[in-house]
Amino acid sequence: MSSKQHETIYLEDYQPPAWLISHTELRFELEEEHTLVRAQLSVRANPAVADKRMPLELFGDEAMELCRLSIDGQILETCDYQRDAGCLRIQNVPEHFTLECVTRLLPHENTALEGLYKSDGMFCTQCEAEGFRRITFFPDRPDVMSVFRTTLVADKARYPVLLSNGNPVDNGEDGEGRHWVTWDDPWPKPSYLFALVAGDLALLEDNYTTLSGREVALRIYAERKDLDKLDYAMQSLKNAMRWDEGVYGREYDLDIYMIVAVDFFNMGAMENKGLNIFNTSCVLAHPKTTTDLGFQRVEGVVAHEYFHNWSGNRVTCRDWFQLSLKEGFTVFRDAEFSADMNSRTVKRIEDATLLRTAQFAEDGGPMAHPVRPESYMEISNFYTLTVYEKGAEVVRMLHTLLGSELFRKGSDLYFERHDGQAVTTDDFVAAMEAVSGRDLSQFKRWYSQAGTPLLTVSDQYDEHTGEYCLNVRQSCPPSPGQEHKQPYHMPLAMGLLAEDGAELYAGCLELTGEEQQFRFTDIASRPVPSLLRGFSAPVKLDYQYSDAQLLMLLRHDTDGFNRWDAGQRFCIRLLQEQMRRYRAGEPMQCPDVLISAWRELLTDASLEPAMVAQCLELPSEAQLSELAEQIDVTAIHAAREFMRAALATALEQEWLQAYQRCDTGAAYAADAASMGRRSLKNLALSYLMLTGCEPWLELARQQYEQSDNMTDQLAALSLVAHSGFRETGAELLQAFYQQWQHEALVMNQWLSVQASDPTPGALARVQALSTHPVFDARNPNKLRALIAGFCARNLFHFHAEDGSGYEWLADWILQLDRRNPQIAARLLTPLTRWKRYDTERAALMQAQLQRMMDTAELSADVYEVVSKSLM
Ligand code: ARG
Ligand code: ZN
Repeated sequence: MSSKQHETIYLEDYQPPAWLISHTELRFELEEEHTLVRAQLSVRANPAVADKRMPLELFGDEAMELCRLSIDGQILETCDYQRDAGCLRIQNVPEHFTLECVTRLLPHENTALEGLYKSDGMFCTQCEAEGFRRITFFPDRPDVMSVFRTTLVADKARYPVLLSNGNPVDNGEDGEGRHWVTWDDPWPKPSYLFALVAGDLALLEDNYTTLSGREVALRIYAERKDLDKLDYAMQSLKNAMRWDEGVYGREYDLDIYMIVAVDFFNMGAMENKGLNIFNTSCVLAHPKTTTDLGFQRVEGVVAHEYFHNWSGNRVTCRDWFQLSLKEGFTVFRDAEFSADMNSRTVKRIEDATLLRTAQFAEDGGPMAHPVRPESYMEISNFYTLTVYEKGAEVVRMLHTLLGSELFRKGSDLYFERHDGQAVTTDDFVAAMEAVSGRDLSQFKRWYSQAGTPLLTVSDQYDEHTGEYCLNVRQSCPPSPGQEHKQPYHMPLAMGLLAEDGAELYAGCLELTGEEQQFRFTDIASRPVPSLLRGFSAPVKLDYQYSDAQLLMLLRHDTDGFNRWDAGQRFCIRLLQEQMRRYRAGEPMQCPDVLISAWRELLTDASLEPAMVAQCLELPSEAQLSELAEQIDVTAIHAAREFMRAALATALEQEWLQAYQRCDTGAAYAADAASMGRRSLKNLALSYLMLTGCEPWLELARQQYEQSDNMTDQLAALSLVAHSGFRETGAELLQAFYQQWQHEALVMNQWLSVQASDPTPGALARVQALSTHPVFDARNPNKLRALIAGFCARNLFHFHAEDGSGYEWLADWILQLDRRNPQIAARLLTPLTRWKRYDTERAALMQAQLQRMMDTAELSADVYEVVSKSLM
């Protein structure tokens, strides 16, 4: 039994803070053995709270050492306050006072990477959501906003760079080789946006002039060896700043904007005011070491964190149940930015695929929660695809329903009304209601109801009257704690196409009822409906398309997203049929219609290569799993591999031609068109390799050796390493290691390629890699590469019948939980889906969850996920 009882926090229990902090003055004495933190808080009673006798409540981690506590200079003795499980209460305090608090921290022993910790010899912080309480005692909740002034003192030789939020206002030398810098941030902020960095860092500097003429210094800091990998992040930052001025009318508001790259980081990046801290994987980019996907991630994350300066920092969240207020909105903003910088349709395809694969699975699992959750044990567990990606879809639907002009008015009003405040998703929707005059109360169910809605669509056509009628029914399955769902308000973008592909109608319907009919008149012949264009709502769609209709849409739909989607639907149908055959012991087949449709796409030089690549990529095993009634890992793998091999052989010449057409020999460029060509080229190579013919192995080897960029080199490496040519595979893996062993991010890829190798012996390989010198179990990127590489991207082996994959993962979770609970809870996800599998696998997965549950001293993070999974 877990000895600790973990408490549940409820949204309905929210109370405004009784005490406010106008100013926070911090002094950090950073030393090798420990750090002393002196905090001085200007505390006053909250005038909006009637009861002035409420105790002052400060959060502080149980393990944190409290050295001194005083009120207006009067030292408090232990009998003057109560300290229990993470909270310190002081009764009978005056109406205004200064609280001084000294704490002693051990950053070098902080393996959880929350609060103040060391990453490769530099000090850095991560305070969202509740890390500040590991630094000092504080009302560490987002609705307490205060002005911070921070002084850092450290050894000058070791830590020449001392950074915090805002502007540097003073500095000096302390003797004995120590120096200090004081930073002042004029913008009131919650403690989760506090940051500091101290280290020996190199810097890329640039500047930016805002629309109204403010000069801003842009500084990106990294280790000296990575100085050549910062240009792309800098360019992305400037693009994002310009875009936010143009599209949202939002300008930057400090004199300096800083980004620091750190190698040890639990998540992607953090939007601390004026001082973003980034995982190196989201900021460093160089053609030689970074893939196209990596470049796009850098562009997206740099923009995301920058956009938070308004959607998150200037207007923040009242409480953590409102997390999607900033995350959903900011993901929507960064997605639109990326769409404007690259191909809009491809970006939409990528995002819809992520939703359908991973978010839908979350919505159908034991951790399902609404975009605005109602309760949590550990808030870190709610930085989820639902809060981020589904939350962004909810904002996108508002954008679709209102149109871009009204949406912009609504966003202007939201920022104007709430600048400097900590607010709720209701406040966001209220601004949209105010500018549009619309009642969005039904729409708000998207924030309160969990689960993925299903649209069931049928139609009738009357050839005498020319009337076409669409019947749309919506439903939503139960989710934990929510048995019955009310109908949603959503946009259904659609078109009607004639048999020859001519578009008869294009528009957007609004659904509000459980069942609705839409009539279209003057339709000359039975149309084919193109439904849910652009994935206009995060739902599943069930309409009984015929094969011919899907192929017509794949050829002719005017909506690029739905062209792709028609092809995917067709492939899913065929794959599901092969899965059935595989189980029934019948031979599998790849029908000629699929081969000719693909031939047409592959040889049509007028199509964008990026789109062709998207269309010719079969739905992943993970997506097929999400769609399955009961997940049959073996059948999914067998059907998909069969289909890939059949398409490889049938279209060998066309794959080669596509490869040659895209292999332009031009030097690397990180623009969308070049990336699109590389994606089709490498997809073609992957099919060529599937034929198992020696010449294509030679082609892959040649590409590996001659490419001038990581995209092509890594694609070739993983194709050869995952192929039946084991010797060449081992040889290239060794060469790759020799070439890149000193590049941490490239070594993550090297681990990941091997962890996801689907050929026999996978578990033994990852076990061996976990003792390899480049692997480091303290580094979250390494853990993600190896553990998630195996458990999430090598499904066939992770789900081995003997349960060995499950046991391996559970061993890791138990070991990691003592060190880094956030990462442990996150890596645990695959086991939580146990109910979706056959009885044998389900029992084996459940047994591992139970084994964890029976372990003493689980963190709140892991306890919450395990206990909810077993319910
Ligand atoms: N606010 C950050 C972002 O989305 C994520 C920080 C999450 N941190 C955490 N410990 N869960 O950009
Ligand atoms: Zn964010």
